[in-house]
Amino acid sequence: VLAEWGITAPGLLGDALLVVTELVSNAVVASRGLPEPAEVRVWLCCDRVRLLVAVGDRSLAPPVYVAPSDEALSGRGLQVVDTLSSGWAWFPATTPELAKIVWAELYVGPPAAAANGPARSRENAASAAGPAGPGQLARGV
Ligand SMILES: Nc1ncnc2c1ncn2[C@@H]1O[C@H](COP(=O)(O)OP(=O)(O)OP(=O)(O)O)[C@@H](O)[C@H]1O
Ligand SMILES: [Mg+2]
Repeated sequence: VLAEWGITAPGLLGDALLVVTELVSNAVVASRGLPEPAEVRVWLCCDRVRLLVAVGDRSLAPPVYVAPSDEALSGRGLQVVDTLSSGWAWFPATTPELAKIVWAELYVGPPAAAANGPARSRENAASAAGPAGPGQLARGV
């Protein structure tokens, strides 16, 4: 999706992949404990300065950041997210299909670079963004 949007900031793809992987893994694990199968939703939103990764699930349990001990074999996912993002948090969802949304924001580039970006790719991205409208890039699955 980032390539489609023409977003090629160095290192961003790898960082975004890790953040998406960790948040989706947590959502899938949390959803396994639910009485019925439930969907996990993922959104990417970008204004070319920041990339927002948001993952929704139906578990009422919140994410809990606990710094793992040196010997711990798990409990590092949110540490990875915390390190790679400029911020992360969660909030209760307002739709019945989901209980909460966990989000993380990654830095893409300075606003000046966003304003001077290639016009063609911005137009292409805006048309792929759907209802978010021009200037905002959004994708959800
Ligand atoms: N989407 C979520 N829903 C419910 N609980 C969550 C969610 N995300 C995280 N948590 C809780 O926060 C804890 C810490 O998450 P974190 O990703 O840091 O570690 P982990 O998933 O236990 O291990 P690792 O990511 O290293 O495999 C989880 O063990 C879980 O209890
Ligand atoms: Mg995890």
